Amino acid sequence: MARNTIEAGENIPKHIAMIMDGNGRWAKKRLMPRSFGHKMGMERMIGLMEHAFDLGVDYVTVYALSTENLKRPKEELDGLFDLIRNHFAQYMERVCARGVRLRILGDTSLLPKDVQKILVESEEKTAAYEGKGINVALGYGARAEIVRAANLAVEKGERLTEESFSGLLYTGGQPDPDLVIRTGKEVRLSNFLLYQAAYAELYFTDKMFPEFSDKDLEEAFKWYACRVRRFGKTDEQL
Ligand code: FPP
Repeated sequence: MARNTIEAGENIPKHIAMIMDGNGRWAKKRLMPRSFGHKMGMERMIGLMEHAFDLGVDYVTVYALSTENLKRPKEELDGLFDLIRNHFAQYMERVCARGVRLRILGDTSLLPKDVQKILVESEEKTAAYEGKGINVALGYGARAEIVRAANLAVEKGERLTEESFSGLLYTGGQPDPDLVIRTGKEVRLSNFLLYQAAYAELYFTDKMFPEFSDKDLEEAFKWYACRVRRFGKTDEQL
């Protein structure tokens, strides 16, 4: 019989990554400005993080702003930066209070100086925590991340292995994502975690991000729990 609940710890992905798409369309449908969609998206992001940790997830990575998004109209970017200015530190303190370390992934020098300061301070407050993490990708692009890591290796004059290369990425030291969830109908990775997501299960939903509920997250986890992860091996080898 199909079950409609998921228990904490039950074949739960250890690391989930979310492409939080659809804030703008969700707001437009309600005749509201895009900035309202981002605000509701941010609140949903925090709710989903808390629910994911309650269910036994150790790492949550979210795609909040790509390098390509930085070309959006100034008004929309200012709205996103204002969300960080007004709410980020407080929200992160709430989620990280359970011993979660915050890391910002991306080239933060592309962001306004005062926003950079808020991000650094929020990261520092959690620096002593280990084993659980939130990664917020801001000014992030996976290709840029890979090139940056390659350049770091060149500077060190280091011959790389897959493992040592992983360690040079922004997510260095963390497990790879097991599950990538993308809301908002599109079916692509959009330059997100291209190296780390090599064996991730990819879950796409038509729901817009602000309407992606805790129950929807559980649906994604149930779908994940039924996947057979072969990592290139045969069924018999597992
Ligand atoms: C893409 O959907 C989403 C973004 C560019 C921003 C995502 C940001 C949040 C969910 C909240 C803010 C979080 C932080 C940390 C600032 P879209 O809005 O472009 O949607 P559309 O495709 O419908 O236009």
